[in-house]
Amino acid sequence: MKNEQYILAIDEGTTSVRAILFNHQGQIVGQAQRLIHQSFPQPGWVEQDPIEIWNNTETVISEVLFQTETPPYKVRAIGISNQRETTVVWNRKTGKPIHNAIVWQSKQTSALANQLKEAGYQELIQQKTGLLIDSYFSATKIQWLLNQVPQAREQAEAGDLLFGTIDTWLLWKLTNGHVHATDMTNASRTMLYNIHTLEWDEELLNLLHIPKQMLPDVEESSHFYGYTQEFTFMGVQIPITGIAGDQQASLFGELALEPGMTKNTYGTGAFIMMNLGTQPQTSAHGLLTTIAYSVNGEVNYAFEGSVFTAGSAVDWLKDQVKLVQDITETAHQAQAAASNNQLYVVPAFNGLGAPYWNQAARGAIFGITQQTDDKQLVKATLESLAFQTRDVLETMSKETGLPVKSLMVDGGVSKNEYLMQFQADILDTTITRAPLTETTALGVAYLAGLQVNYWTDLATIKAIIRSTNSYQPQMAASERKSRYAGWQRAVQATQFFAE
Ligand code: G3P
Repeated sequence: MKNEQYILAIDEGTTSVRAILFNHQGQIVGQAQRLIHQSFPQPGWVEQDPIEIWNNTETVISEVLFQTETPPYKVRAIGISNQRETTVVWNRKTGKPIHNAIVWQSKQTSALANQLKEAGYQELIQQKTGLLIDSYFSATKIQWLLNQVPQAREQAEAGDLLFGTIDTWLLWKLTNGHVHATDMTNASRTMLYNIHTLEWDEELLNLLHIPKQMLPDVEESSHFYGYTQEFTFMGVQIPITGIAGDQQASLFGELALEPGMTKNTYGTGAFIMMNLGTQPQTSAHGLLTTIAYSVNGEVNYAFEGSVFTAGSAVDWLKDQVKLVQDITETAHQAQAAASNNQLYVVPAFNGLGAPYWNQAARGAIFGITQQTDDKQLVKATLESLAFQTRDVLETMSKETGLPVKSLMVDGGVSKNEYLMQFQADILDTTITRAPLTETTALGVAYLAGLQVNYWTDLATIKAIIRSTNSYQPQMAASERKSRYAGWQRAVQATQFFAE
């Protein structure tokens, strides 16, 4: 339609940044994507260049507008979803980052996290933030930067340094340094934000020696954050009205808005979230309590099981061990593999997340025989994503007493037909996949669009008709039981081996 306006979603993930234009029907009008490099300065460390992230973000925005011949005034609002926890600290005067971004997967702050655990702070931190002490979250990453970068602590105390997760960094750049803010979903991943009082927690800031003036303002996920400035949009000022961490954005994009509704996004990691409604619960079995979204003054919480290695294990098959040339081959390879039900790959490349939380664990392969071949290894690697998902869902059901009757899935790897069928089989649960797997971007587009009345309310969004594919369990119960028991033995052995 000639006069139609669009919502522009920026989805800055761990390995790439995308700009996607959505119309009123929640359909993609155009998209552009650029890869983001990762560097690995030491084993287990993962860093990225914040300037590259910003430059590529600018590029994809320009590309999508150019490709779709969309003049900037046709962009009604912008939403930002982002890889969470990844930490940037920059100088507010020069705009320069003081170091690379420390990526969520990075293990360079494991020692700091262990110190906190050993000093007995687990219960306090879980009670305030809903999180378990781990180098995954931003807090120890900020601490590390302030400790390691010369003069950083003095500058931070003088008010010259700003901290942000990637949403905050991009917002600051898009507004030309005018707005330093984040949303509650991202704040809830820092291990510094009290998810009950909805404030930065003074006690935790003191404990970790982090000056409060570095921290961004925290707003609702659907909120008027500010206008874009100059360059990117040829002088047109576009409101930025939605921000959410990517996993929360995909929960919103799936419209999993009722308590008990559960989704899994298979990206670099796999992130399983169950909506808990407006009352947070505390997990006794390794789940995180996190803010799911906050709209119109109402905060919704979720249980999250974060699996660190999912799509990155599939990438490993291609890039490192070179068993496939293209990841789309993995489904065919797995289907063509001779049966070997005793082969297990445990892809603990960066430790194990939920429900194990073992920073020291590293990957392992069990059950290799003379007959083991490339196809079987590909199959076992794919299956590890499904087993890890079951570990988390079993824990969620145990904690909430709610059986997971159906699981909504999205993310790049959810396109893998073999994996989706195996996931349904190993869970004994129906899997539902939307044809549009860009649910993360759609979720933050909804949040941004609600704020500017592009969609007047949630009912309007829910009324948009969408079809889904579903996968039904087919595996015999005895096979399911023995395959899962084998997996549990493999994970246990992996942990036994860890230092
Ligand atoms: O917590 C990390 C998560 O937000 C990363 O998401 O999509 O980049 O794997 P993704």
